[in-house]
Amino acid sequence: DGTSLDDLIMRESNEVSLRVMTDEELYKLEMEKIFAKTWLLLGHESEIPEAGDFIVRDMAEDNVIVARGQDGDVHVSLNVCPHRGMRVCLGEAGNKRVHQCIYHGWAFRPNGDFIGAPVEREKMHGNDVDKKTLGLKKARVHLYGGLIFATWNVDGPSFDEYLGDIKYYMDQLFCRTNRGLELLGPPQRFTLPCNWKVPGEQSGSDGFHTLTLHRSLMEGGVMGGTAETIYDQAPGMYGVDVSCEQGHSLRCLEAEKTFKMFADVPFEGKSTRERLELLTPPGITKDMIPELFENLTEDQVAQLATIPPQVGGMFPNILIAFIFAPRTDGGSSGALSLHAYVPKGPDKVEFVNYLFAEKDAPEQMKRDMLQNSIWNTGTSGVIEQDDADVWPVIMKNARGAVSKDMTLKYQALHGHERPEGWVGEGLLYPGFTKDDTQWNWWLAYYDLMDAV
Ligand code: FES
Repeated sequence: DGTSLDDLIMRESNEVSLRVMTDEELYKLEMEKIFAKTWLLLGHESEIPEAGDFIVRDMAEDNVIVARGQDGDVHVSLNVCPHRGMRVCLGEAGNKRVHQCIYHGWAFRPNGDFIGAPVEREKMHGNDVDKKTLGLKKARVHLYGGLIFATWNVDGPSFDEYLGDIKYYMDQLFCRTNRGLELLGPPQRFTLPCNWKVPGEQSGSDGFHTLTLHRSLMEGGVMGGTAETIYDQAPGMYGVDVSCEQGHSLRCLEAEKTFKMFADVPFEGKSTRERLELLTPPGITKDMIPELFENLTEDQVAQLATIPPQVGGMFPNILIAFIFAPRTDGGSSGALSLHAYVPKGPDKVEFVNYLFAEKDAPEQMKRDMLQNSIWNTGTSGVIEQDDADVWPVIMKNARGAVSKDMTLKYQALHGHERPEGWVGEGLLYPGFTKDDTQWNWWLAYYDLMDAV
């Protein structure tokens, strides 16, 4: 309608028009320029351990079969029959050696290769046409700590290039032990009436909203609750926010300060190993601590023991939450979860919640992590219900004749600055959380939408 990207993403004034949340043409472009180009989370390989196991997931509005082939590899194929466009797999999960389309019977292997069509002797497809050309369309796949990512951008950046500087920090959560992670039950899903960018930009590390919207967590004692530790003095409001040009970010928060709200834990003068034994980061038992040193660099382990990455996001649509739940007797339980905000139209998003524990962790620890996740970051958890109150209301406002021209404001900017002694790379923002990481999220959005 003559509106340019610069009318919507105002890089001079650091504002974004509310119209980005409802514009249908913009949404169609996002599907092509963002969701057909970037790496998207589809699940975890522990969901499909055996050959033939499959799950059906969505890469935005493209439905895909994620399957383990006879070769043991994970394959991601578009769930659209190349014959006449029917969905080939109508289930959600299971095990099949052959996926057969119900419409005319074309059959495919778990890796997407075409096997054959009925009545080939009568010169139906598979007889005159090269079978190699009749398979399902295949996405490029990468496993990261067992997480399954895929992209349609087969010639684009590798997964590691796409993660960029944030990988150093994400490795501390997802690639830290020899055993790897396992999913705690199937992912929880629910649908919200809002555009994917409402939760998307919040997952660009909006630390500020926790002060108000999630205040009940602090007042209720879940995150501590004394006069010194709630509101703007809370340890969760200060730290080092890390971001990068790809739009990913993580908030690194001093674990020691959080723990001191609950118990007098003697961290002073302790080695990295001793601090880890006191903290027991969520999912890590004392037995696993040597594995951290095998899988991470000394600097990464030292960060995990002092100022671990805790909340943030991977562009375009993933929230990362590593929740410490200190106990009054020292040590902690907690949660490790990922949310994918999958677009289902300009005004609808499916919230897919993955909950993790370390593989072969004690059963009690897995139960504790599952419970903590469900209470906090699960679909019925306190944190997500707070957010789900706000997001659809922002959408309502984005439709008003006058209110649609209001802007989202990102003018509380620090500028990046490297704290003394900080080892990891990335754009670093120490101190009280501000708008920088979320503004970087919008700049990454702008760059992809502006690309030819
Ligand atoms: Fe699948 Fe015809 S549409 S076999």
